Order: sequence, then structure tokens, then C-alpha cells
Amino acid sequence: MPTSPDQTLTPPTAAPDAALPAAFIEVEPDTPLALPHIAIGPEWRPAMERFVELVPDMGPILKLNYGRPRADRVPEGADPADPFLPFVGKPETCTMHVRPEAIPDAGVRRELLHFAQALHAYDLPGDLDGAIVTQSMIGPAGGYGMKHLFAFLRAAMVDLGGGERLAAHVIETHGAGHDEIFPPHTDMWVTTMLLNVFNVQPAGQGVSTMVRMDDAWPAIAASGIPDEGLAQMRRAVDDAGVCDLYMQFNAWLYDDRPWSDDIAWTLSDLCLAHEMQPGQGYLVDDRKWLHGRLGLVWPERYTLEDKQNRLYRLGYDTKTSVEHAAARAADWERHGYFPQDCVGDEGLMA
Ligand SMILES: [Fe+2]
Repeated sequence: MPTSPDQTLTPPTAAPDAALPAAFIEVEPDTPLALPHIAIGPEWRPAMERFVELVPDMGPILKLNYGRPRADRVPEGADPADPFLPFVGKPETCTMHVRPEAIPDAGVRRELLHFAQALHAYDLPGDLDGAIVTQSMIGPAGGYGMKHLFAFLRAAMVDLGGGERLAAHVIETHGAGHDEIFPPHTDMWVTTMLLNVFNVQPAGQGVSTMVRMDDAWPAIAASGIPDEGLAQMRRAVDDAGVCDLYMQFNAWLYDDRPWSDDIAWTLSDLCLAHEMQPGQGYLVDDRKWLHGRLGLVWPERYTLEDKQNRLYRLGYDTKTSVEHAAARAADWERHGYFPQDCVGDEGLMA
């Protein structure tokens, strides 16, 4: 793996995916959770460690609007089509972005682009559509290596996945307005795969919770949500891959409904729970798993810096999930159904 300093913008060598080492390998569990445990393949680690050393030379991470801002919120004189407009939308639409060209070493750049290809080709082991990611810390815990890596992966997955709508990556993580729990939910971005890895775990940030959608449905169906709501929630899951349908699913659970408190605790009780350590996290099919947090001390005990630097998230698609989404989109066209908002009330996606 050559890592000689090189400022030229050498295009990456396209490698057939079959020739690449797997993005993740299965490893011995180091959490009590009964799921496959996976770690970044050892072949990729040297380039990632070198990547961390190069972070100071990469310049700041760009913020890119995932959705277009509403016309009345575009700054005066700015081009509304400019993807690098200053942040004016909801936090959910603002993503981190490190272009491959920002990596000032052609060898490292090539290796990381190949890792992105391997991630795009990676299917989770088994049939649970979820795994615990572990031993994945690069650089010091609490540093910015992971942040730049995820911002780079976001940009690379956009290129591989065919457009920015296929790879959301939110800078800040944010909690729901509940005192002690962040109730189990799906992120329901356009993308299917959700990779969450912790960079640091400040006290009071809570314990990660996860439950399979199949295991949650009986409790959801018995919660008091009317049939119309249950039907919309199921349709939101089926239609995923076409639009961001967060509200169509989660609002029926938690948007100040009479059943919201009860179902938040009932679903949390069904969850696997673990306090993730730096370098641990999870990779799930977001349509098949709910995730949340328990034991939050909110918000007095942690700072904005803690909040922003705690956990990095990558929404992306794989070859397999794109095929599934394409099949669902074809079905959507046949039925003529189109959700009103693709990215909430900040405007339709470009
Ligand atoms: Fe979430």
C-alpha cells in the first residue's frame, strides 16, 4: 500500500469489487449483544491510520445541504442550486462532505476509494440485517479522524450510489424531547443502510438500544394507533428508497399521541441495550431495525461539542439495497402513490 506524499489528483484505479478485501470481517463478540460482530477488515487499517495523520492537511469539512432550502431562505444573492449554500435548512438536511481530492496522498486516496467500493458491495452476514460494529476506532477517541473518514465516505458513496440523495450524513446528532429516553425509531432516510459508530461516550449520553422491526410490530399494533396510522407506517417502510419518510413512520408513534409515552417505554423494554464504547456501534438495515437510547441525562450534563463529536453516522446504499429500492420504486409507479414531502417541510429533494 504505497503512501508516498503526492499532491497530484490521480484518478482512482477502478478495481473489480471481487478483487477487493471485504470492508468488514466477522470477529469475536466483545459486547453481550446476540448479533454478529464485525470490524473493519485488517487490509484497510494502515491506509485509515495514515488518513488520520493527513487530517490536518485536508482543510475544513464542507457542509453541504442534502435538501434544497426553501426559496425564502436562500441567502440574498446566492444561487439556490448551489449545493454548498450556507446552512439554512433543518439540521437533518445538512451533511458533512470531504471530497476525495482533499486527501493529499494518492496512495491513501486510492485505498480509501477502494474501501468505499468494498463498503458499497458489502452485505451483512446472516439474515438478521444487523450487526454490531466494533474495534473500529481510528485515531484517538474524541479526535477528528472518524469525523473526516465518515465525511469522506459520504462523498464517496454519493459517487458510487448515483447521487446525493443516496447518501445522507448528518453532522449533529440530536435527541427527541423526552427526558430519559430517545425512543426506538427508524431514521427513514432515502438510504437503507445505517452505520453508526461512536467516537466518544461522554457521561449521560445513554445506552444504545436496538430492536428488530418484526419484534416491535406486535407492540406497535397493540398500542392504540388507528388502522390508518398502522397502514401508513407499513407503507412508509415499503416505500423507503423513494423518499425520506421519517415523519410518516415515527410521528404515529411519538408525535404527542395519547399512546406515545407507553409505546416509547414498551419498545425500549424490547430492545437490546449496550453502552457503546469508542469504536463500537452498529450497522443495520434501517427498515428492519429500530434504534434509540436509554438512560439519557438531558440536556444539562453535556456540551454542544460532546453532542457533535459523540457519534458519526453514515446513511448509504449497497448494490443489494439499491436493487431492492428499485423494485419498490417500480411498485410505487404502478400504484401511482407519491408522498407529499420527500424531505419534510424544507422542500423537495433535488
Ligand atoms: Fe436515529
